[in-house]
Amino acid sequence: MTPSERGKLIWKIGDLILEHADELAELESVDNGKPRVVARVADVPLAADIFHYMAGWATKIEGNTIPISVPYAPGANFHAFTLREPIGVVGQIIPWNFPLLMAAWKLAPALTTGNCVVLKPAEQTPLTALRLGELILEAGLPEGVVNIVTGFGETAGAALASHDDVDKIAFTGSTEVGKIIVRAAAGNLKKVSLELGGKSPNIIFKDAGDLNAAIAGAANAIFFNHGQCCCAGSRLMVERDIFDQVVEGVAEQAKKIKIGPGLAADTEMGPLVSEEQLQRVTRYMNQGKQEGACYVTGGARSGQNGYFVQPTVIKDVKPKMSIVREEIFGPVVVAEPFAKPEEVIPRANQTEYGLAAGVWTRDISKAHRIAAQLKAGTVWVNCYNVFDAALPFGGYKQSGWGREMGHEVLNLYTQTKAVVLGL
Ligand code: NAI
Ligand code: MG
Repeated sequence: MTPSERGKLIWKIGDLILEHADELAELESVDNGKPRVVARVADVPLAADIFHYMAGWATKIEGNTIPISVPYAPGANFHAFTLREPIGVVGQIIPWNFPLLMAAWKLAPALTTGNCVVLKPAEQTPLTALRLGELILEAGLPEGVVNIVTGFGETAGAALASHDDVDKIAFTGSTEVGKIIVRAAAGNLKKVSLELGGKSPNIIFKDAGDLNAAIAGAANAIFFNHGQCCCAGSRLMVERDIFDQVVEGVAEQAKKIKIGPGLAADTEMGPLVSEEQLQRVTRYMNQGKQEGACYVTGGARSGQNGYFVQPTVIKDVKPKMSIVREEIFGPVVVAEPFAKPEEVIPRANQTEYGLAAGVWTRDISKAHRIAAQLKAGTVWVNCYNVFDAALPFGGYKQSGWGREMGHEVLNLYTQTKAVVLGL
């Protein structure tokens, strides 16, 4: 297929996602529990957008011509250039928190660079990936280029990660399974890219200006998608003078969140994805209490039916507490005060993760200085949870290997061949 034909096909997939936006949003809500309204305005259009963005790259994947000197061959002439070729068969394993969007982030760059894919959705949420597979065929992609295979991680996922005919594995999920993937990939040394967990700091300085905006931003940073976000702002760090005001403000926002079933039009927060996730999040909530933290609001399951939990704000925490160190992946934020910028940076970086960070200040040089010092793949200043198909996303440290989206992701799905002609 020519690059131009490939680009048009990928664009068409984006169009088809938008044409089926209502259906996909409903499927996503039924499958995952997130509000249909949110899926309709966030997950689905973002999924379409990455196909539209990547469609343009199909015709722009270029090598270089490289003037070479070859000092040991005086007088000889060469013509040297590079080709950027697809990697081949790519395995992709995705999680359940943004099922359609994760499928789109994975498939669009792999296809624009000319690879074939076996994609395994999470066992909790296979519906939108399967529907997307049908839309991909409808767009005209030849059968067999994209293969959606459902199954459990320990069986289907493990088989994909270890298979000798798979040339690359791309994984999004827990850091724990990311390490299993790396070991499984060692058999044939397939290429590996990983987008893993986080425990992202969100730092509010007293010169943040509009404190209400910072409070709303901090609430969004942790409560969006019920906290089931790899980049959730789960460690709120607030300059001491405004600590009480900010923590109260975030707790007020938490109490106002309307909890309900995903399909109800007025629901702002649906259930967690599964019984397992409900157990995990409530276990952390209980651990924090046992360790002596102070719960400003929330801290328990919401109601007796379903996987609902209360949006939770915790203070009086210590660095060694599990709720401070570990990814909870629920609507639970720990808040801690700090006295000086010099003190907050090492604390913000004191985590094995490095996915994202937030900074709220109106001091422009401080904003730049701190953005440079934070060990995180994304730093949001005076905003949070801003994503774009053109913006690379990925982790420092144990938050992952490689960057998704933007032109950076093309490196994950191509390999470079150097060709030298003696003239
Ligand atoms: P998980 O990492 O086990 O699952 C993610 C994907 O990996 C799923 O498709 C699953 O089937 C697959 N998988 C699981 N074990 C595998 C194996 N041995 N080989 C190959 N593939 C395998 O995540 P899980 O259990 O659903 O959630 C546990 C925790 O992981 C969450 O509480 C959260 O902290 C974190 N997580 C992080 C995500 C992120 O976006 N960074 C997404 C989902 C979970
Ligand atoms: Mg698991």
